[in-house]
Amino acid sequence: MSELAMAMRPMLERVIPESILIETAYCGGDDLVCIDRSQLENVIMNLCMNARDAMSAGGVLAVGVYRVTLDAGELGSADLQPGEYLQISVSDNGVGMDEEARARVFEPFFTTKEGTGGTGLGLATAYGIVRQSGGDITVSSEPGSGSTFRILLPAAERTTEDVSPSLSVDCAEIRSRGTGT
Ligand SMILES: Nc1ncnc2c1ncn2[C@@H]1O[C@H](COP(=O)(O)OP(=O)(O)O)[C@@H](O)[C@H]1O
Ligand SMILES: [Mg+2]
Repeated sequence: MSELAMAMRPMLERVIPESILIETAYCGGDDLVCIDRSQLENVIMNLCMNARDAMSAGGVLAVGVYRVTLDAGELGSADLQPGEYLQISVSDNGVGMDEEARARVFEPFFTTKEGTGGTGLGLATAYGIVRQSGGDITVSSEPGSGSTFRILLPAAERTTEDVSPSLSVDCAEIRSRGTGT
């Protein structure tokens, strides 16, 4: 996970204007998840593009990856079982959203960017990918003070006999926990 997020930084620097400061924080150590790499890149990129759009006057985009152990209370609105997760957070201090928009962000075709080529599919797609991988994505936001999207993906264990990291996790076990549609 951290490796993927680090590898994405140059890509982000190309598409994020200089008026936005990019802050990244990655956990070291065990941070394997079982998800298609290009799909996850796509999800993170979409969240970062939305953050950019929300900060047309500049601001701070923060991307963090942490391994977390969550109990029922800490899961908050996430629809998951307590356990070990990799948490990816993408925060901005841009325009934020009111309650009505916040409730609809993951809805297909919901967009407030009609005039500027918004499709309203970025977050609906992100939601589908994350749910299919046994995880969840939630958002907290206030008008005027920015937004934080939080993705939780079940932590995967490296198996000892495998040498290739990309082949070393038991994906079947994780997929069987998924509830995505
Ligand atoms: N970081 C954000 N800050 C404020 N509003 C956001 C943010 N991310 C998403 N939104 C709102 O959610 C809507 C849907 O986002 P998305 O599915 O990516 O579609 P699009 O970007 O094409 O409009 C956006 O149009 C915007 O109103
Ligand atoms: Mg978008």
